[in-house]
Amino acid sequence: MRSKSDTDLGTPVGADAPAVTVTIDGASVTVPAGTSVMRAAALAGHKIPKLCATDSLEPFGSCRLCLVEIDGARGYPASCTTPVRDAMVVRTQSEALARLRRGVMELYISDHPLDCLTCPANGNCELQEMAGVVGLREVRYGYQGENHLASPKDESSPFFTFDPSRCIVCSRCVRACEEVQGTFALTIDGRGFGSTVVASQREPFAHSECVACGACVQSCPTAALTENSVIAMGQAERSVVTTCGYCGVGCSFKAEMKGSSVVRMAPNQNGSANHGHACVKGRFAWGYATHPDRVKRPMIRARIDEPWREVSWDEAIAYAARELRRIQTSYGRDAVGGITSSRCTNEETYLVQKLVRAAFGNNNVDTCARVCHSPTGYGLKLAFGTSATTQDFDSVRHADVIMIIGANPTEGHPVFGSALKRRIREGAKLIVIDPRQIEIVKLPHVAASYHLKLRPGANVAVINAIAHVVMTEGLADLNFVRERCGARDFAIWRGFILEPRNSPEAVEPMTGVPAANLRAAARLYASAPNAAIYYGLGVTEHSQGSTMVLGMANLAMATGNIGRPGVGVNPLRGQNNVQGSCDMGSFPHELPGYRHISDAQVRSAFEREWRVTIDPEPGLRIPNMMDAALDGSFKGIYIQGEDPVQSEPDSGHVTDALRKMECVVLQDIFLNETAKFAHVILPGSSFLEKDGTFTNSERRISRVRKVMEPLAGFADWQITCRLSAALGYPMAYAHPSQIMDEIARLTPTFAGVSYAKLDRLGSVQWPCNDAAPEGTATMHVGRFVGGMGKFTITEYIPTEERTSARFPLILTTGRILTQYNVGSQTRRTTNASLHPEDLLEIHPHDAEQRGIRDGAWLDVRSRKGATRLRARVSPRMQPGVVYTTFHHPESQTNLLTTDLSDWATNCPEYKVTAVEVVPLAKLEDYEHERRP
Ligand code: SF4
Ligand code: SF4
Ligand code: SF4
Ligand code: FES
Repeated sequence: MRSKSDTDLGTPVGADAPAVTVTIDGASVTVPAGTSVMRAAALAGHKIPKLCATDSLEPFGSCRLCLVEIDGARGYPASCTTPVRDAMVVRTQSEALARLRRGVMELYISDHPLDCLTCPANGNCELQEMAGVVGLREVRYGYQGENHLASPKDESSPFFTFDPSRCIVCSRCVRACEEVQGTFALTIDGRGFGSTVVASQREPFAHSECVACGACVQSCPTAALTENSVIAMGQAERSVVTTCGYCGVGCSFKAEMKGSSVVRMAPNQNGSANHGHACVKGRFAWGYATHPDRVKRPMIRARIDEPWREVSWDEAIAYAARELRRIQTSYGRDAVGGITSSRCTNEETYLVQKLVRAAFGNNNVDTCARVCHSPTGYGLKLAFGTSATTQDFDSVRHADVIMIIGANPTEGHPVFGSALKRRIREGAKLIVIDPRQIEIVKLPHVAASYHLKLRPGANVAVINAIAHVVMTEGLADLNFVRERCGARDFAIWRGFILEPRNSPEAVEPMTGVPAANLRAAARLYASAPNAAIYYGLGVTEHSQGSTMVLGMANLAMATGNIGRPGVGVNPLRGQNNVQGSCDMGSFPHELPGYRHISDAQVRSAFEREWRVTIDPEPGLRIPNMMDAALDGSFKGIYIQGEDPVQSEPDSGHVTDALRKMECVVLQDIFLNETAKFAHVILPGSSFLEKDGTFTNSERRISRVRKVMEPLAGFADWQITCRLSAALGYPMAYAHPSQIMDEIARLTPTFAGVSYAKLDRLGSVQWPCNDAAPEGTATMHVGRFVGGMGKFTITEYIPTEERTSARFPLILTTGRILTQYNVGSQTRRTTNASLHPEDLLEIHPHDAEQRGIRDGAWLDVRSRKGATRLRARVSPRMQPGVVYTTFHHPESQTNLLTTDLSDWATNCPEYKVTAVEVVPLAKLEDYEHERRP
């Protein structure tokens, strides 16, 4: 059931079409031709009774409750499936219609439990509402006939319950699973009276293909499909619009509340990023916010081998400030730094970098974006002039060819994954470039035209070869290049890319991609009217991450696929606010809005506002901070909402560095792995406990709204303000809106952003300023932000990480649907039961060679370290490549990863580690070589 406060116009908005005017119950309404009579009536203020129709799904016409009378039409057409035509005259109410509708309702109600008072949907049930609307007073058929009232419930899903006795077989759930989610897990089995909803092959939901997105539950008009939280707690009393705290899709939700408890998270139908859809994480995995593991009291200790001492906020803040200042006095101004969080709000991130620059007096600030999308920032800025995606998500509706590189959208960005699947079902072609057969390569009604199963690390060779085909086969859009791109750079690049060593045939031995397939994929991409690239960490987390981003930009420019809907180069950002944390000046060399710290004019604007002098020299990046700590020159750090021990590569190096620091201040909602090395714990707040904004992958700034008080007393932005005040640099804000006002004053791309505007529009995409007061959906229209597009030579240089006789396999990593990143949130929700451990996927051939059975424990070793994982033998892998997720701390995947990184940005090369895998005959035999 969707949120009570959502209006439902019955059928979706139609395609653009000329307007027609119709008369409905005497009132005129003008709508696009093709609009349903039901929708036109709703727009004219007349609600036609309905059960099988809802405006998130195509009309189906099964319940026959929405009948109307139309002048000149025979009988009583269903208003949901009848399109309007010009001058049509419709009556939605008459005695005959009332009689027919009551008759329909009688049939439904004669086979329905009459326990409305104790039903979980009581007060939010469309069947109940429609019985009232049609004036049902009696059921002539009685209740004793054949019925479904004794049908057993399916309670297998941890998230929702299916009660067939309340099902009216309207097919809304089946259609939601198909149209909205694209999983096709449900069908109506049987005929007539015997019809019933079944999952997969009559399996319990939990064992079916269902991915627990909840779209079916949301679409159900009765209590047949109901969230378990609603069954337990009853209907909500109020709702607050906020933004998901998980991935970079940034879905808008209504947090439905009872007192200060969340009853359910209902996706917002008006959310511009998700249009009313959600995934298993955002919709169901919010329980971590009140998990008993939450840290509720500040704690301090002088040494990391001492026990924690709970103290007051005042004492903890004073201690942290005193220690950080002592370190600066003893070791110098640059001996401390900070790490901002891509899970916190823009305002909170902005304050941490402000604290570092203004209160610490240096630029030693960095963010976890360093380890994911820093090459995106570098590459897109160099090529196009700005460090962000070129499109909005809805752009994909106009794409004819979609190229997915190093991303797994149906698991990592599931709501956008559903939008992709929908577009492919509509006819767009798909090219996947990935070492693994990710889900979208083959799904019901979705199949990639080409899957280029490359060797990990060979991205640049592949993208160069695609561009080589484009240039040698006359597939380039030279008019676009002439008008929009720098001629000299293009000429140099053209000379490079035409070299025979970039041909598909020449690179085939290195990439493992058959030349013919690569040529065919290049032709498909280049000849499409609109071709779009979507990519993820499989592009960036390589030693040539920045080169690959530039390679994709070169390809998009060469084929003219920039600057209109349906095209572009689109990074799929991992965390909820990783785009925002980059925008907010989290890097040591950039002030908010990606302006270099050495720019005196930019610096002086901040200096005037902040009343300090800002160091013109870039500060330390996270890896440099760790190196400096080992050298003894970096001694203190303020970490907000991050877990570098788990998220940074070569975790042994990180723990050694942290151990050498004298004051590690960690602000987080849980005691994560880094807490083991901390001296001060400041309890953080979850996204439900604060006001602010997140910026998603499509540059969309959305409000985060407080629905409950911070469990430990303060929102993260308040804690940073208190720490800054204790350091002698007070930052006084009464509300995060004032922080956003300051950001807008200082950052040209945010100049037009305010909370009032966000409340009015729902969200805006930056740039939002005088030139684009309502934001910018598509960038680089007519002209690149940087002026002329810049082609760059992208020489393929293989990574130094090589396989050898000792380490013959390449390990690559990724995520799964139900878990999020290092798992500290999702492992503390019901989702934990769906992924109790990280597994090592290995091709059957490699498994057989090593005598590995499915489920066997394995010793996984690299040149850096060793860990233990259980095997999943999987033909999805290619021989020579193994894969694991990193959602559980016990897996310690980062003990294996190397210290190699992207040449331009230091983004770690997580995606290529040479390993060997050996089965453990007995678990006891296992001798772990992990560092202490
Ligand atoms: S929860 Fe989602 S995937 Fe599962 S049956 Fe419902 S719509 Fe389909
Ligand atoms: S479960 Fe709900 S949505 Fe699905 S057919 Fe039954 S009543 Fe309709
Ligand atoms: S797709 Fe991402 S933003 Fe949307 S509900 Fe899922 S985790 Fe949250
Ligand atoms: S709402 Fe039109 S037939 Fe059901």
